[in-house]
This record gives sequence, structure tokens and C-alpha cells, in this order.
Amino acid sequence: MTEYEICWIPLPKTNLEQHFQTVERPRRRNSRVGAAPKAFDPQPPRAFSYSVRQPDANKESKRAAALEAVQNVESGMTVGLGTGSTAALAIEELGRLQNTGALQCDYCATSYQSMQLAREAGLRVFPVESFDSLDVSIDGADEVDPALNLIKGGGAAHTLEKIVHSLSSKFVCVIDGSKLVTTLGERTPVPLEILPQAINVVRHELDRLGAREVSLRMALRKDGPVITDHGNFVLDVRFDSFHAEAMEKELNSISGVVENGIFARCRPTFVIVGESSGVRRLEG
Ligand code: 5RP
Repeated sequence: MTEYEICWIPLPKTNLEQHFQTVERPRRRNSRVGAAPKAFDPQPPRAFSYSVRQPDANKESKRAAALEAVQNVESGMTVGLGTGSTAALAIEELGRLQNTGALQCDYCATSYQSMQLAREAGLRVFPVESFDSLDVSIDGADEVDPALNLIKGGGAAHTLEKIVHSLSSKFVCVIDGSKLVTTLGERTPVPLEILPQAINVVRHELDRLGAREVSLRMALRKDGPVITDHGNFVLDVRFDSFHAEAMEKELNSISGVVENGIFARCRPTFVIVGESSGVRRLEG
């Protein structure tokens, strides 16, 4: 049995009515039913706590890379903000510089995660579509090969990440040394953001392309699959081997695939690798 058959269980059509049962909810103890209406009382935005995947794994190496990457940002620039724990450290530093008055830039974010972090850090965030181009973007990666091809999408944000980095004159990728690989795909599956309705079409096409393993990514603190910022599913796909640029193109030609996590046609300008001994820069 293949993995996607284990993970994905289609609902029999005849059972749909069971999802429309009426559920009686107990009344909340502080219910305001019957209470006098309260005047509108706007509150300043509250800080939320966020859970980030493995935020502490190699954190100091990630921070070293993130701080080095921020050196590429100057006042007046338009800047794309990536997603994930390494990008979050760059956002934190950009916020610090903004708040000391050392840096004034306009930003766009690649996910709700980076948008929220950036706004809390005090950065001016605008929608991606309001930019015709960007001066620089900073983002992490899950794998980097010697030609600087990437696999991204560990945070299911690769669709907007590819759009933002494609707009950017300089894409700076920030990683710790554990992300360097000899061959793309040797550790990390390739994420595909797909329309939920396309799951069978995509599965058939992945079989045709020789996929070894296909998993529907499941949520950790929600029942069912991960739902992306755009309302879609994510399939994680393993291949025995592939040519990065050809596979990136092939996967995006499947009906229902929104975007895949191979960044071969949108490679970084350079990669900053953080290590315990310091940082080094890899050029394409
Ligand atoms: C999110 C991504 C991230 O950049 C990638 O997963 C790396 O994350 P981290 O910096 O937390 O290791 O592609 O979609």
C-alpha cells in the first residue's frame, strides 16, 4: 500500500449527511446574552505566541546567517521576507534596525507567519501584489545543492516564496550547514501545493513520473491535512533521482498543482551558510 493511500481517506458520498448533524454547544459561562451592549472599545494589537518548526535546531548558526544577510538591506529598499525559523531571525533583526531608526524600508511577506512577525517587529508590510519588483529578499531553504538549486516548502509557503523571489533583484538564501546536500532530494521530499480537488489527478501523474513515495502532509494541532495560506493541500513527494530544472517544470505542468518546492529556475543570488565557526558565502 502506498503512503498516500494510508493518509488520505475520501468520504463516501452517501455519508456526507453525517457532517451536517446539529451539535448542541453548552452555553459559555461568561455568555453576554442578555447583557447590555458594550461600547466599541478598540484595543491595540496584542502579541501572540507562534510555534515555528524546530525553532531551536542550530539556532545560533541560523542567526549568524540571518544577521549577515541583513547587511544586504539598505534604507529605501523594497524587501521580501521569507518564512521559517531562519527567515524569522532576519525579520527580528530588521525590526530592531527599524526601531533604532537605522533602516527604513517597505516590506512584503511570503506567509501569514512572516507577515505577523514583521508587523509585530514594527516593519511596514504591504501586499505582495503592490510591488512590481523588489530590491532584495531573504529566505531559508530545506536543501541546497552545489549548483544552488533549492528545495523549499517545509513551512508550506513555497508558492508565495517563489513569487516574491522571482520579483527580487537579489535573493539571499540563509541556512545552517545541515541544509547542504550533494543531490537535491536526498533528505527532503519535494512539496507540492495542490488544489484539494486535484488529489487523484496529481497522484496518477506522480505515478507516471516515477514518484517513490507520496504523502499528504498532515496538520499537527488540527485534525486532517495541512491547509496552506491559500486554502490548498500539500503533498510531499520522494523521487529516486531527478533533474532539478526539468522536474520543476514537469511538476508545475500537472493540472491542479499550484506550485512545487524545487527552486531551480529561481535560484538564490548567493547562499549564506551559518556554522559554529562563522558564516561563509556560496555563489552560483
Ligand atoms: C518555508 C520554507 C523555509 O524557508 C524552509 O522550510 C526552511 O525553514 P527553516 O529556516 O525553519 O529551517 O521553505 O516554506
